[in-house]
Amino acid sequence: MELKEFSMRIGDDFHCHLRRGDMLGKVLPFTASMFGRAVVMPNTEPPILDRFDPHLYYKEIHQYKRNQSYSGFSPIMTIQINESTSPSMIEGASLEGVAAGKVYPIGVTTNSANGVRDFGKISEVFKRMQETGMLLLLHGEKPDTFCLHREKEFLNTLLKINKEFPELKIVLEHITTRVAVWAVKELKNVAATITAHHLLLTLDDVVGDLLSPHNFCKPIAKSPKDRLALLEVATSGNPKFFFGSDSAPHLKERKECSSGCAGIFSAPVAVPLLVEIFEKADRLDKLENFVSTFGAVFYDLPLNKDKITLVKKDWIVPESYDGIVPFLSGKKLSWQVK
Ligand code: DOR
Ligand code: ZN
Repeated sequence: MELKEFSMRIGDDFHCHLRRGDMLGKVLPFTASMFGRAVVMPNTEPPILDRFDPHLYYKEIHQYKRNQSYSGFSPIMTIQINESTSPSMIEGASLEGVAAGKVYPIGVTTNSANGVRDFGKISEVFKRMQETGMLLLLHGEKPDTFCLHREKEFLNTLLKINKEFPELKIVLEHITTRVAVWAVKELKNVAATITAHHLLLTLDDVVGDLLSPHNFCKPIAKSPKDRLALLEVATSGNPKFFFGSDSAPHLKERKECSSGCAGIFSAPVAVPLLVEIFEKADRLDKLENFVSTFGAVFYDLPLNKDKITLVKKDWIVPESYDGIVPFLSGKKLSWQVK
């Protein structure tokens, strides 16, 4: 008998860009209505760098949340770590309740011009993170190398950090390659987020036919073999791999232009799409752990109590939400959040 409706523990989005100001107001409802919590990325304008920034940003999110009445949703705050971050800043942020520090290698993605060039310069920071229990979130791409090899070439850096700080909990974010899956499986205290779009796309969906700017993100989608490795591990029930949408909104005109921004606005479709992907793989029984359990356990957070209900009902993804083109716009999806 065909499944038409089911409920599960509401999930968390362990990697999300909510932005600030107007954009925050536009995108927050999608994440706040479909997730219990979201780990909020710090590459905003202005960025979240120091111990007091997360508090201000939290208040900003809270204000929108209150205006839009999403009381059941909580943001999990992060700071961006760069070569100016000091160990005492980590201590301060940790006291403020900041869960994680995010490292962007220099220039690898949106708003990362202030990122890290020399990882040796932040080893005292990693040491303090290890001591305070703050998680390290890594955008795992090596700058200035061939774009399809950036993730693979970053793995040496991951290995080194893990060897020097074996108790530091690390999340390798939005992995896109078979070799990254292998590395995460091998290393103790290392986990990974996987996006919905990387379970679906390969490089062909970005540049194989007509150029598709709304499928363009960093790290860029890779080969069919890589996609399959992600799909296999995401649906396997391995607790080291959990969901992070990397929903990254940009206005339509910043995507459809000569220097288009990297980022896929997946928040409106992420949950229905995951259901569809897991159902197709005949692994719907593994979805709740991927979205609602494994990440919380790795972050040492209590599991959400609320439930979410999914119903099987076709819908067409809108062409735009207030000037932002969502992932799979104009396409048909077969599940909806009730
Ligand atoms: O495609 C991406 N967009 N990848 C990232 O890592 C950052 C994000 C953004 O902030 O737009
Ligand atoms: Zn991101």
